[in-house]
Amino acid sequence: MRLAYSTVFVFVPIPMFPSHVSPHVFFFMVVLLVSALIAWLVWENVALTVERIEVPVEALSPEFDGFRIAQVSDLHGQRFDPAGREAQVIMNAGVDLIAVTGDFVHGNHIVGLRRILPFMRKLVSIAPVYAVSGNHDHWTNWPYIAAGLKGVGVTVLENSHVRIKRGTQEIVLAGVSCPHSRHGSLAQALPLQTVVPVVPVVLLVHAATWFEPWHRVKAPAEIKQVALTLAGHTHGGQVKLPFLGAVTTASGHLFPPKKYVEGLSRQGNGWLYINRGLGQGGRAFRFLSRREITIITLRRTSAPVGST
Ligand SMILES: [Fe+2]
Repeated sequence: MRLAYSTVFVFVPIPMFPSHVSPHVFFFMVVLLVSALIAWLVWENVALTVERIEVPVEALSPEFDGFRIAQVSDLHGQRFDPAGREAQVIMNAGVDLIAVTGDFVHGNHIVGLRRILPFMRKLVSIAPVYAVSGNHDHWTNWPYIAAGLKGVGVTVLENSHVRIKRGTQEIVLAGVSCPHSRHGSLAQALPLQTVVPVVPVVLLVHAATWFEPWHRVKAPAEIKQVALTLAGHTHGGQVKLPFLGAVTTASGHLFPPKKYVEGLSRQGNGWLYINRGLGQGGRAFRFLSRREITIITLRRTSAPVGST
Protein backbone atom coordinates (compact mmCIF):
# COMPACT_ATOMS: atom_id res chain seq x y z
CA MET A 1 0.00 0.00 0.00
CA ARG A 2 2.84 2.29 0.86
CA LEU A 3 4.52 1.53 -2.45
CA ALA A 4 1.34 2.17 -4.41
CA TYR A 5 0.92 5.47 -2.63
CA SER A 6 4.48 6.57 -3.32
CA THR A 7 4.23 5.44 -7.00
CA VAL A 8 1.18 7.58 -7.48
CA PHE A 9 2.84 10.36 -5.56
CA VAL A 10 5.92 10.30 -7.76
CA PHE A 11 4.46 9.78 -11.23
CA VAL A 12 1.02 11.34 -11.30
CA PRO A 13 1.13 15.11 -11.71
CA ILE A 14 -1.19 16.52 -9.07
CA PRO A 15 -3.08 19.58 -10.33
CA MET A 16 -1.99 22.56 -8.30
CA PHE A 17 -4.63 25.02 -7.27
CA PRO A 18 -3.39 28.33 -8.64
CA SER A 19 -3.67 31.00 -5.97
CA HIS A 20 -4.76 33.72 -8.41
CA VAL A 21 -7.74 31.64 -9.73
CA SER A 22 -10.97 31.70 -7.77
CA PRO A 23 -12.33 28.32 -6.57
CA HIS A 24 -15.41 28.78 -8.78
CA VAL A 25 -13.34 29.29 -11.92
CA PHE A 26 -11.09 26.36 -11.02
CA PHE A 27 -14.12 24.11 -10.44
CA PHE A 28 -15.61 25.25 -13.77
CA MET A 29 -12.34 24.46 -15.57
CA VAL A 30 -12.21 20.96 -14.08
CA VAL A 31 -15.84 20.29 -15.08
CA LEU A 32 -15.09 21.57 -18.59
CA LEU A 33 -12.03 19.34 -18.87
CA VAL A 34 -13.87 16.22 -17.65
CA SER A 35 -16.82 16.96 -19.98
CA ALA A 36 -14.47 17.34 -22.95
CA LEU A 37 -12.81 14.05 -22.04
CA ILE A 38 -16.15 12.23 -21.82
CA ALA A 39 -17.28 13.78 -25.13
CA TRP A 40 -14.04 12.62 -26.77
CA LEU A 41 -14.48 9.05 -25.45
CA VAL A 42 -18.08 8.95 -26.70
CA TRP A 43 -16.99 10.33 -30.09
CA GLU A 44 -14.30 7.65 -30.41
CA ASN A 45 -17.07 5.05 -30.13
CA VAL A 46 -19.65 6.57 -32.48
CA ALA A 47 -17.50 8.23 -35.15
CA LEU A 48 -17.40 6.52 -38.53
CA THR A 49 -14.27 6.63 -40.67
CA VAL A 50 -14.43 6.03 -44.40
CA GLU A 51 -11.13 4.61 -45.60
CA ARG A 52 -10.61 4.90 -49.35
CA ILE A 53 -7.79 2.83 -50.81
CA GLU A 54 -6.57 1.92 -54.26
CA VAL A 55 -5.03 -1.52 -54.72
CA PRO A 56 -2.79 -2.21 -57.72
CA VAL A 57 -3.53 -5.64 -59.11
CA GLU A 58 -1.37 -7.37 -61.66
CA ALA A 59 -3.21 -8.99 -64.57
CA LEU A 60 -6.33 -6.95 -63.92
CA SER A 61 -8.12 -6.45 -67.22
CA PRO A 62 -9.02 -2.91 -68.37
CA GLU A 63 -12.68 -3.79 -67.80
CA PHE A 64 -12.02 -4.11 -64.05
CA ASP A 65 -9.74 -1.09 -63.71
CA GLY A 66 -11.67 1.07 -61.23
CA PHE A 67 -13.83 -1.81 -59.94
CA ARG A 68 -15.04 -0.68 -56.53
CA ILE A 69 -15.75 -2.80 -53.45
CA ALA A 70 -17.24 -1.60 -50.17
CA GLN A 71 -16.11 -3.63 -47.18
CA VAL A 72 -18.16 -3.83 -44.01
CA SER A 73 -17.22 -6.06 -41.09
CA ASP A 74 -18.03 -7.04 -37.51
CA LEU A 75 -21.57 -5.71 -37.06
CA HIS A 76 -21.88 -7.60 -33.76
CA GLY A 77 -25.65 -7.52 -33.66
CA GLN A 78 -25.86 -3.74 -33.46
CA ARG A 79 -28.69 -1.87 -35.11
CA PHE A 80 -27.67 0.35 -38.02
CA ASP A 81 -30.28 2.64 -39.50
CA PRO A 82 -30.91 1.63 -43.15
CA ALA A 83 -31.22 5.37 -43.87
CA GLY A 84 -28.19 6.21 -41.75
CA ARG A 85 -24.70 7.37 -42.60
CA GLU A 86 -23.25 3.84 -43.00
CA ALA A 87 -25.60 2.99 -45.87
CA GLN A 88 -25.36 6.53 -47.28
CA VAL A 89 -21.57 6.35 -47.53
CA ILE A 90 -21.74 3.10 -49.48
CA MET A 91 -24.52 4.37 -51.72
CA ASN A 92 -22.59 7.55 -52.56
CA ALA A 93 -19.39 5.62 -53.32
CA GLY A 94 -20.94 3.94 -56.37
CA VAL A 95 -19.60 0.50 -55.53
CA ASP A 96 -19.82 -2.59 -57.73
CA LEU A 97 -20.16 -5.02 -54.85
CA ILE A 98 -20.29 -5.08 -51.06
CA ALA A 99 -18.22 -7.53 -49.02
CA VAL A 100 -19.18 -8.30 -45.42
CA THR A 101 -16.48 -10.16 -43.52
CA GLY A 102 -18.32 -11.78 -40.65
CA ASP A 103 -19.42 -11.37 -37.03
CA PHE A 104 -23.02 -10.48 -37.82
CA VAL A 105 -24.09 -11.25 -34.25
CA HIS A 106 -22.34 -11.13 -30.93
CA GLY A 107 -21.69 -13.43 -28.02
CA ASN A 108 -24.25 -16.16 -28.68
CA HIS A 109 -27.16 -13.68 -28.91
CA ILE A 110 -29.17 -14.68 -31.96
CA VAL A 111 -31.45 -11.68 -31.39
CA GLY A 112 -28.70 -9.62 -33.04
CA LEU A 113 -29.67 -11.12 -36.40
CA ARG A 114 -33.05 -9.37 -36.26
CA ARG A 115 -31.29 -6.06 -35.59
CA ILE A 116 -28.90 -6.28 -38.55
CA LEU A 117 -31.22 -7.65 -41.24
CA PRO A 118 -32.87 -4.30 -42.19
CA PHE A 119 -29.38 -2.85 -42.75
CA MET A 120 -28.34 -5.88 -44.81
CA ARG A 121 -31.53 -5.58 -46.88
CA LYS A 122 -30.63 -1.95 -47.56
CA LEU A 123 -27.10 -2.92 -48.65
CA VAL A 124 -28.56 -5.48 -51.07
CA SER A 125 -30.59 -2.69 -52.66
CA ILE A 126 -27.34 -0.76 -53.32
CA ALA A 127 -25.13 -3.48 -54.84
CA PRO A 128 -24.69 -7.27 -54.75
CA VAL A 129 -23.68 -8.30 -51.22
CA TYR A 130 -21.33 -11.23 -50.49
CA ALA A 131 -20.65 -12.46 -46.98
CA VAL A 132 -18.57 -14.89 -44.96
CA SER A 133 -19.02 -16.05 -41.38
CA GLY A 134 -17.17 -14.83 -38.30
CA ASN A 135 -16.26 -16.61 -35.09
CA HIS A 136 -19.25 -15.10 -33.22
CA ASP A 137 -21.59 -16.40 -35.93
CA HIS A 138 -20.32 -19.94 -35.42
CA TRP A 139 -20.53 -19.62 -31.63
CA THR A 140 -24.17 -18.59 -32.04
CA ASN A 141 -25.94 -20.45 -34.86
CA TRP A 142 -24.31 -19.96 -38.25
CA PRO A 143 -26.78 -22.05 -40.31
CA TYR A 144 -29.65 -19.95 -38.92
CA ILE A 145 -27.76 -16.68 -39.53
CA ALA A 146 -26.76 -17.74 -43.06
CA ALA A 147 -30.40 -18.57 -43.83
CA GLY A 148 -31.47 -15.12 -42.58
CA LEU A 149 -28.84 -13.42 -44.75
CA LYS A 150 -29.81 -15.41 -47.82
CA GLY A 151 -33.42 -14.51 -47.12
CA VAL A 152 -32.69 -10.81 -47.68
CA GLY A 153 -30.63 -11.45 -50.82
CA VAL A 154 -27.08 -11.79 -49.51
CA THR A 155 -24.86 -14.33 -51.27
CA VAL A 156 -23.11 -16.34 -48.58
CA LEU A 157 -19.72 -17.73 -49.56
CA GLU A 158 -19.02 -20.84 -47.54
CA ASN A 159 -15.71 -22.22 -48.83
CA SER A 160 -16.77 -21.35 -52.35
CA HIS A 161 -16.17 -18.81 -55.08
CA VAL A 162 -18.10 -16.95 -57.74
CA ARG A 163 -16.97 -15.35 -60.98
CA ILE A 164 -17.77 -11.67 -61.48
CA LYS A 165 -17.99 -10.83 -65.17
CA ARG A 166 -17.58 -7.63 -67.14
CA GLY A 167 -17.87 -8.20 -70.84
CA THR A 168 -15.67 -11.15 -71.62
CA GLN A 169 -13.41 -10.58 -68.60
CA GLU A 170 -13.81 -11.79 -65.04
CA ILE A 171 -12.41 -11.76 -61.54
CA VAL A 172 -12.95 -14.44 -58.92
CA LEU A 173 -14.49 -13.62 -55.55
CA ALA A 174 -13.87 -16.37 -53.00
CA GLY A 175 -14.96 -16.70 -49.39
CA VAL A 176 -14.05 -19.06 -46.58
CA SER A 177 -15.87 -19.77 -43.37
CA CYS A 178 -14.15 -18.30 -40.32
CA PRO A 179 -10.72 -19.96 -39.83
CA HIS A 180 -11.49 -20.03 -36.09
CA SER A 181 -14.26 -22.51 -36.77
CA ARG A 182 -13.45 -26.00 -37.94
CA HIS A 183 -15.25 -25.32 -41.20
CA GLY A 184 -12.90 -22.88 -42.95
CA SER A 185 -11.20 -24.36 -46.01
CA LEU A 186 -9.39 -22.31 -48.62
CA ALA A 187 -8.59 -25.52 -50.51
CA GLN A 188 -12.31 -26.08 -50.91
CA ALA A 189 -13.05 -22.44 -51.74
CA LEU A 190 -10.26 -22.11 -54.23
CA PRO A 191 -8.90 -25.46 -55.42
CA LEU A 192 -5.47 -25.10 -56.98
CA GLN A 193 -5.49 -25.29 -60.77
CA THR A 194 -9.18 -24.40 -61.02
CA VAL A 195 -8.58 -20.68 -61.32
CA VAL A 196 -6.86 -19.47 -64.46
CA PRO A 197 -3.67 -17.70 -63.26
CA VAL A 198 -4.44 -14.51 -65.17
CA VAL A 199 -7.76 -14.03 -63.38
CA PRO A 200 -7.29 -11.97 -60.21
CA VAL A 201 -8.80 -13.43 -57.03
CA VAL A 202 -10.29 -11.42 -54.19
CA LEU A 203 -10.74 -13.45 -50.99
CA LEU A 204 -13.11 -12.72 -48.10
CA VAL A 205 -12.15 -14.17 -44.72
CA HIS A 206 -13.14 -13.04 -41.24
CA ALA A 207 -9.80 -13.40 -39.49
CA ALA A 208 -6.37 -12.91 -41.06
CA THR A 209 -4.74 -15.29 -38.60
CA TRP A 210 -3.07 -17.24 -41.46
CA PHE A 211 -0.80 -14.27 -42.01
CA GLU A 212 0.22 -13.74 -38.39
CA PRO A 213 3.82 -14.93 -37.88
CA TRP A 214 3.06 -16.09 -34.33
CA HIS A 215 0.07 -18.18 -35.38
CA ARG A 216 0.65 -21.92 -35.63
CA VAL A 217 -1.67 -22.44 -38.61
CA LYS A 218 -0.12 -20.89 -41.71
CA ALA A 219 -1.88 -19.87 -44.89
CA PRO A 220 -2.61 -22.85 -47.15
CA ALA A 221 -0.89 -23.11 -50.55
CA GLU A 222 -4.02 -21.86 -52.34
CA ILE A 223 -3.35 -18.38 -50.91
CA LYS A 224 -0.79 -17.91 -53.71
CA GLN A 225 -3.71 -17.47 -56.10
CA VAL A 226 -5.13 -14.53 -54.13
CA ALA A 227 -4.41 -10.95 -55.21
CA LEU A 228 -6.31 -9.28 -52.36
CA THR A 229 -7.57 -10.67 -49.06
CA LEU A 230 -10.21 -8.69 -47.17
CA ALA A 231 -10.50 -9.45 -43.44
CA GLY A 232 -11.93 -8.01 -40.23
CA HIS A 233 -12.03 -9.55 -36.73
CA THR A 234 -9.41 -7.33 -35.06
CA HIS A 235 -11.63 -4.25 -34.55
CA GLY A 236 -8.40 -2.38 -35.21
CA GLY A 237 -7.21 -3.48 -31.80
CA GLN A 238 -10.34 -1.83 -30.37
CA VAL A 239 -8.31 -0.01 -27.72
CA LYS A 240 -5.08 1.69 -28.73
CA LEU A 241 -2.49 3.66 -26.82
CA PRO A 242 -1.05 6.86 -28.26
CA PHE A 243 2.27 6.14 -30.07
CA LEU A 244 2.16 2.44 -29.09
CA GLY A 245 -0.88 1.35 -31.11
CA ALA A 246 -3.04 -1.69 -30.39
CA VAL A 247 -2.52 -3.27 -26.99
CA THR A 248 -3.49 -6.76 -28.09
CA THR A 249 -4.94 -8.82 -30.93
CA ALA A 250 -8.26 -10.61 -30.50
CA SER A 251 -6.22 -13.75 -29.76
CA GLY A 252 -4.21 -12.02 -27.03
CA HIS A 253 -0.90 -11.28 -28.79
CA LEU A 254 0.49 -8.18 -27.10
CA PHE A 255 1.42 -5.04 -29.05
CA PRO A 256 1.07 -6.57 -32.52
CA PRO A 257 2.54 -4.75 -35.55
CA LYS A 258 -0.03 -2.49 -37.17
CA LYS A 259 -0.25 -4.58 -40.36
CA TYR A 260 -1.86 -7.43 -38.39
CA VAL A 261 -4.39 -5.09 -36.80
CA GLU A 262 -5.68 -2.82 -39.54
CA GLY A 263 -5.03 -1.39 -42.98
CA LEU A 264 -3.29 -2.50 -46.14
CA SER A 265 -0.11 -4.57 -46.22
CA ARG A 266 1.75 -6.73 -48.67
CA GLN A 267 1.63 -10.42 -47.72
CA GLY A 268 3.48 -12.84 -49.97
CA ASN A 269 2.21 -12.46 -53.52
CA GLY A 270 -0.87 -10.52 -52.57
CA TRP A 271 -2.36 -7.73 -50.51
CA LEU A 272 -4.11 -7.99 -47.16
CA TYR A 273 -6.59 -5.40 -45.95
CA ILE A 274 -7.93 -5.52 -42.38
CA ASN A 275 -11.06 -3.50 -41.65
CA ARG A 276 -11.68 -2.20 -38.10
CA GLY A 277 -15.38 -3.12 -38.18
CA LEU A 278 -18.62 -1.31 -37.42
CA GLY A 279 -19.61 -2.88 -34.09
CA GLN A 280 -17.90 -2.82 -30.74
CA GLY A 281 -17.57 -6.43 -29.65
CA GLY A 282 -17.30 -7.81 -26.15
CA ARG A 283 -15.40 -5.01 -24.47
CA ALA A 284 -17.98 -2.62 -25.91
CA PHE A 285 -15.48 0.21 -25.95
CA ARG A 286 -13.22 1.68 -28.61
CA PHE A 287 -10.38 4.10 -28.14
CA LEU A 288 -8.30 5.48 -31.03
CA SER A 289 -9.75 2.72 -33.21
CA ARG A 290 -12.78 4.21 -34.91
CA ARG A 291 -15.50 2.33 -36.73
CA GLU A 292 -14.80 1.88 -40.41
CA ILE A 293 -16.25 1.39 -43.84
CA THR A 294 -13.68 0.73 -46.55
CA ILE A 295 -14.04 1.70 -50.19
CA ILE A 296 -11.53 -0.29 -52.22
CA THR A 297 -10.76 0.51 -55.84
CA LEU A 298 -8.90 -2.09 -57.91
CA ARG A 299 -6.31 -0.59 -60.23
CA ARG A 300 -4.74 -2.24 -63.21
CA THR A 301 -0.96 -2.34 -63.19
CA SER A 302 1.48 -3.96 -65.55
CA ALA A 303 4.46 -3.43 -63.22
CA PRO A 304 5.15 -6.05 -60.54
CA VAL A 305 3.56 -4.93 -57.32
CA GLY A 306 6.19 -4.07 -54.69
CA SER A 307 6.25 -4.44 -50.93
CA THR A 308 4.97 -1.88 -48.49
FE1 LIG B 1 -15.63 -9.10 -34.31
